[in-house]
Amino acid sequence: MQGFVKAASLKEILPGKCKALELNGLKIVLVNQGGSLYALEDACTHLGAPLSQGFLSKDCITCEWHGASFDLRTGEALSAPAREPLRTFELRLSGDDIEVLI
Ligand code: FES
Repeated sequence: MQGFVKAASLKEILPGKCKALELNGLKIVLVNQGGSLYALEDACTHLGAPLSQGFLSKDCITCEWHGASFDLRTGEALSAPAREPLRTFELRLSGDDIEVLI
């Protein structure tokens, strides 16, 4: 059964930063890009690198291993060598808490 789970405090993820965490056995990266928050699977669909150690640019996150990039909003793979999208998660704010739908 799905439900929202507290993932982090808003203060922990400043704009331009991300945070890796594990919720219910799932590796997730929370991203604050220009004040917009995103939650994605923290495993590149190419060979599984942690995207939390990648690079943020305008609307995408780029894997540090081989350079695949993904749309922060949809998880769509934007460049090779990744072809499959990243799983994305709905999130919401509850006061200063970021909650992710798991
Ligand atoms: S593991 Fe991410 S591009 Fe290869």
